[in-house]
Amino acid sequence: MSNLKNEISRRRTFAIISHPDAGKTTLTEKFLLYGGAIQTAGSVKGKATAKHAVSDWMELEKQRGISITSSVMQFEYDGFCINILDTPGHQDFSEDTYRTLMAADSVVMVIDAAKGIEAQTRKLFKVCAMRHIPIFTFINKLDREARDPFELLDELEKEFGIGTYPVNWPIGCGVSFKGVFDRDKRQILTFNEFHKGQEKLTAIPCDITDTEKMDELIGEYQRAELVDQIELLDGASFEFDLEKVQKGELTPVFFGSALTNFGVEPFLENFLKMTTSPLPRKSADGTEVSPFDENFSAFVFKIQANMNKAHRDRITFMRICSGKFERNQEYYHLQGKKSMRLSQPQQMMAEERQVINEAYAGDIIGVFDPGIFSIGDTICTAKNQVEFEGIPTFAPEHFAMIEQKDSLKRKQFVKGVEQIAQEGAIQIFHEPNSGMERVIVGVVGVLQFEVLEYRLKNEYNVEVIRNNLPYQYIRWIRNKDIDVKSLNLTSDTKWVQDFKGNNILIFTSEWNIGWALDKNEGLILEDFNKD
Ligand code: G4P
Repeated sequence: MSNLKNEISRRRTFAIISHPDAGKTTLTEKFLLYGGAIQTAGSVKGKATAKHAVSDWMELEKQRGISITSSVMQFEYDGFCINILDTPGHQDFSEDTYRTLMAADSVVMVIDAAKGIEAQTRKLFKVCAMRHIPIFTFINKLDREARDPFELLDELEKEFGIGTYPVNWPIGCGVSFKGVFDRDKRQILTFNEFHKGQEKLTAIPCDITDTEKMDELIGEYQRAELVDQIELLDGASFEFDLEKVQKGELTPVFFGSALTNFGVEPFLENFLKMTTSPLPRKSADGTEVSPFDENFSAFVFKIQANMNKAHRDRITFMRICSGKFERNQEYYHLQGKKSMRLSQPQQMMAEERQVINEAYAGDIIGVFDPGIFSIGDTICTAKNQVEFEGIPTFAPEHFAMIEQKDSLKRKQFVKGVEQIAQEGAIQIFHEPNSGMERVIVGVVGVLQFEVLEYRLKNEYNVEVIRNNLPYQYIRWIRNKDIDVKSLNLTSDTKWVQDFKGNNILIFTSEWNIGWALDKNEGLILEDFNKD
């Protein structure tokens, strides 16, 4: 196998998602420990150890004790090279979180066994479903009191409309947590309370049919209960079907406890068996670009501002879709119609940032960007140009009218708002036939309003007045040549435009959307923008 093929085949790129506090950071840390990328627990950024909060406005994150930005980490395990895309862990997450999923080939969803599915996981799941991304579920904190595992599976199936396949099954929970039953190997891995807190936990395999040994390890009562549950599972649950897993129609479910390191290694092993190497990406003309194509290509999915306080630089993150990236090579920026050498390409290795010389399809690299890239841009070789399908703009759910306090600061205001919108943190709209004195800002999470105000003040020296608006729903009008003024709409529906001139309606309720569709035959509304 050629080196290129070998390097790409061994890559796996996944995003990790969870509701805050479900254990995403803890699980990530255990992955990195297995991969030897970090030596001690507690090195991954977390609430207490916000190590890489280096930018100005990240101060805001620190003050609020949350993480707004998401990062990328790489580690090696069993010959595989694994890229983890971390997603912000706060309810007030932004579009950034959605877009991160666009750069991943699969998703690991961490769920707190005591809580089940929570609001944030629900939203993220929708995006995974839209792209048919394979989802792996890790039900965490079994060392604590947990909900009934059948009930948790039922919830996943009902809420998400996908099948579940428990790869292992928990034996009790909390103080009576005895371990998990491995359904494929038909044996149990016991959890020993004594090991709690240790980095490496030894699991003792035991055959479920060995009644005597089982009784000794987990007690007669729990053994009998387990045997009943497994019988029920084998009879009633979904069959394992790798094809369905890879289409995102069936989620393999694992039970464990990230904190005590129980169930992390079996998870990794199965995950690597069930996932594929980087998948082909669709280009704008509908053809597929194979990751093994020798010509380098990548798309921008995330732009992070002001990582370094001293500069206005931004870091642009791109996912490599095909071929090999080489540091001093000249590449072509399709949208900018320019050849360039990407300066100081970087990769995150756990808590450190490293300049890299090469990277392969599936990898994520960050490059310094003086403000030339936009979300969705393509970078490729000049001789073999491709353009990737754009990243959809997700529907904001909160809107506010923003205007500058000091009208002499108009230029800075416009520049700031436009640049921040270009990074994808906010979306901006305006009322038809009005100028840029005031703009309507739409965000996915309300925290982005605070980030915007903070950044305008600190980076652009502009103070703004914000008036929150009551709208919650946005729909792009898909009909061309439509006379929006003559549409029959409820009085609290507002017509706005984005800066490409697309017509948009914003609504205060779903009922009003229904009204608009009922009263205007042929009106086509969509809740995301593809342009
Ligand atoms: P997040 O990134 O999803 O927000 O969650 P994080 O890993 O930070 O975990 C949230 C809390 O849950 C942490 O406790 C963590 O130690 C705990 N936790 C994670 N996994 C498990 C588990 O398997 N079992 C138990 N019992 N607890 C778990 P904390 O007190 O908020 O923080 P810390 O002081 O431990 O850092």
